[in-house]
Amino acid sequence: MRDAEQKEQAAFGVYIHWPFCLSKCPYCDFNSHVRRAAIDEPRFVRAFKAEIAATAARVPGRTVSTIFFGGGTPSLMQPATVAAVLDAIARHWSVAPDVEVTLEANPTSVEAARFRGYRAAGINRVSLGVQALDDRVLAELGRLHTAREALDAVGIARSVFERYSFDLIYARPRQTPRDWAGELKRALAEAGEHLSLYQLTIEPDTPFAALHAAGKLKIPDEDTSRALYDTTQEICAAHGLPAYEISNHARPGGECRHNLVYWRGHEYAGVGPGAHGRLNIGRLDIGGGRHATATEKRPEAWLTRIDRDGHGLVTDDVLTREEMADEFLLMGLRLAEGIDPARYAVLAGRPLDPLRIAALREHGLVETTATGRLRVSMPGFPVLDAVVADLAA
Ligand SMILES: C[S@@+](CC[C@H](N)C(=O)[O-])C[C@H]1O[C@@H](n2cnc3c(N)ncnc32)[C@H](O)[C@@H]1O
Ligand code: SF4
Repeated sequence: MRDAEQKEQAAFGVYIHWPFCLSKCPYCDFNSHVRRAAIDEPRFVRAFKAEIAATAARVPGRTVSTIFFGGGTPSLMQPATVAAVLDAIARHWSVAPDVEVTLEANPTSVEAARFRGYRAAGINRVSLGVQALDDRVLAELGRLHTAREALDAVGIARSVFERYSFDLIYARPRQTPRDWAGELKRALAEAGEHLSLYQLTIEPDTPFAALHAAGKLKIPDEDTSRALYDTTQEICAAHGLPAYEISNHARPGGECRHNLVYWRGHEYAGVGPGAHGRLNIGRLDIGGGRHATATEKRPEAWLTRIDRDGHGLVTDDVLTREEMADEFLLMGLRLAEGIDPARYAVLAGRPLDPLRIAALREHGLVETTATGRLRVSMPGFPVLDAVVADLAA
């Protein structure tokens, strides 16, 4: 096996969830909470340390290749809290010399001094939630920052970190492909090596879902969404940031390595309230296997569990072959590089159905690369869920 391939096979990510925000955005269903009182960060540090120790006891000897502080709004954490978590990770596992350590930041909480504190703590990449470059839209999205403030935060990120990314949400109410093309080009002028571009999703049980149901929030119809998606692909590719995943764009080599761990089906630990993990414990043939883990979502209840049990796990299921194979398809086909059908066959215990592949290929929805990988083609991405469902059936 080539060196790079071997290293890639051994990729191990650690996800740390910070579950608090200054306010709740009406479209968002992430596990994020708003608290009036100050957060007791030392207590969270103790809890993170305990959960890291408990996880490392289950999957010892790993070399951590990526770490991701997600949320919520991790840029509300004190740099000392981030440093303590990174220290705990390094005590329990080896950390690769080229480890990627990302922190998600909300422009509202970005200050240069704080960012320098994160860099000193060991963060080497930030991902900012810019969302839109129009103040009226930002207000509608419930954001607490203006477009100017968001771009200033991008400027701070660029001056402190070598690697940075930012998120935009498109396919918003009343947005035309022409408006979006202008906004995206302005964004690309500020972009580094990576951009995340998400189509607005109406998530159940959010204020946006209620407005949508009441007819007070109209999202673009299917044809407009499709045109917005095509515009995104064309403009980003022309600027040297093609999509490497359905919503993520990067210059070659600038991909988020942590997210690639998820999409390529590698191993990762989830730490903090509502964090998910996939741990490969023991040998499949003797009762071991790939564990899908999840922790208690409510921050205070998670702390209580840690005090009681030393970890916050509420789910710890060994995946069946079928589940592993389905997940591999679902995650891997989001990537422009697609999947290795041979790995699917090993996981599932049977190959993908060649007749189904042929039918999808005939419709121009999938293609096989020169190296034998199966990937979704450009026209297939907007109907990715249907393609995956068809192949997995
Ligand atoms: C955990 S949040 C990001 C970090 C930070 N809390 C912020 O908002 O700036 C991750 C990203 O998911 C995206 N997102 C959240 N809810 C979404 C929705 N309903 N539709 C599309 N994108 C969404 C946003 O772009 C957001 O930046
Ligand atoms: S989008 Fe970000 S800031 Fe807004 S509620 Fe979700 S996690 Fe918090």
